[in-house]
Amino acid sequence: MVSRIVKVEPFDLVVFGGTGDLAHRKLFPALYRRFLDGQFSAPTRIIGVSRQPLEREAYQATIADALGQFGAAAPGDGLQAFLEMIDYVPLDVGSDEGWSLLETKLAGDPTRVRAFYLATAPDRFGVVAKQLARHGLVTPASRIIVEKPVGRDGASAERINDAIGAVFAESQIFRIDHYLGKETVQNMMALRFANALFEPLWNSAHIDHVEITVAESIGVEGRAAYYENAGALRDMVQNHLLQLLCLVAMEPPSSLDADAVRDEKLKVLKSLAPIDASNIGALTVRGQYGAGASEGGAVASYAKDVGNDKSTTETFVALKVSVANWRWAGAPFYLRTGKRLPQRVSEVVVAFRAIPHSMFSADAGRISKTRLVIRLQPDEGIKLWLMLKEPGAGGMRLRYVPLDMNFAEAFQIYAPDAYERLLMDVIRGNATLFMRRDEVEAAWRWIDPIREAWSLSNDPPRPYFAGTWGPAASIALVERDGRSWTEEVV
Ligand code: BG6
Repeated sequence: MVSRIVKVEPFDLVVFGGTGDLAHRKLFPALYRRFLDGQFSAPTRIIGVSRQPLEREAYQATIADALGQFGAAAPGDGLQAFLEMIDYVPLDVGSDEGWSLLETKLAGDPTRVRAFYLATAPDRFGVVAKQLARHGLVTPASRIIVEKPVGRDGASAERINDAIGAVFAESQIFRIDHYLGKETVQNMMALRFANALFEPLWNSAHIDHVEITVAESIGVEGRAAYYENAGALRDMVQNHLLQLLCLVAMEPPSSLDADAVRDEKLKVLKSLAPIDASNIGALTVRGQYGAGASEGGAVASYAKDVGNDKSTTETFVALKVSVANWRWAGAPFYLRTGKRLPQRVSEVVVAFRAIPHSMFSADAGRISKTRLVIRLQPDEGIKLWLMLKEPGAGGMRLRYVPLDMNFAEAFQIYAPDAYERLLMDVIRGNATLFMRRDEVEAAWRWIDPIREAWSLSNDPPRPYFAGTWGPAASIALVERDGRSWTEEVV
């Protein structure tokens, strides 16, 4: 099957942080794949910006290297043509020098789509926005793209949003949460709202609980300084996990229009029951990995990875979350995420209620709850676990088996990386898969009291061995309710 490519109009994309890890690892490979698929229209220009004093050719060479290293298509097919679109401007965003060169390079038709991608630390967002305005670079067709996390708490997010908002209208601001660009995350909307089967059952009368797991086998890699200041709650829960929760829990939007979808997600965020000092012990578990075995070898502890024996930064979080509204009262959402877990797997599990009465004898075997497992990565797909009769004579024996749909096999098509979709959405001006200001701020309003309660309690994060599923307390968090995380069941 071949996917339909709808070309985007010619655009200018300026990448601040153009020599950084995100640009190399994600943005340029994504742009290259979209280019190879014929989605760009000429003349499109991509301009990297950073402090490094590089010539254009030297910058293009670093991009060619990055494409090779980070898995974009083999060099040769279109590489040269792609590199020719790329230019470079060295400048320090804090200083007024260098901007005139950027102005010259962007000169031309002011109605062209112009996108500024801020692949920089969030404390630079306001400065860059201000400088763009000061140097007359913001046109009506301009948009700005900012990476998560927007801020490190509610107050700093507000300051950053104010600073960007002083230059750009909300409709020009694209706040990326790359999880929203993942194919299977979008599929959650298709599954719920393009089928008549699930929606009538999608509430606590029929659903027992929901689990959201985003597990990673990697450690903090080269990001010790950032991660030490962030921790898993800010790095993953405030954005990715809460966005997934919103898509599972929200009411059906009236359309796919950006505000229709975001209004519904916002209502979910506002319905989350508070977690604070009064219930922190019962509803949260935080952990930090110690030395252990992961990815086929021995690995060091987090404290060693970041060079801080006293670190109290969490690399694992498990939460029991209540969405306090009519649809979800009584059906908790269990969330967990961590680094150095046994495997990289992101999954949403919707566990339906047990049957009210069994007509089968004990010999038939145990009857498990119907589960819908939405696998975001790897091996994207869905499984609906059902009880069925084992074939053959010999009585009624029941087996728990999945209706199994692997998207790669079903569609025979390569699933684009999240950034491919999201970058093209920015150029098209479609903000449905981006976070609106009030969503980001509502998420922080719910997260901040958790952080505060953790810091008030003198309990450090619980240790867990690298390569395990986090502290034992995370299992207890679910077992206390007579449930268990799904990998222990199926
Ligand atoms: C990022 C986090 O947002 O998401 C990283 O900052 C994390 O710590 C990454 O590793 C996970 O993304 P993915 O797409 O690999 O699941």
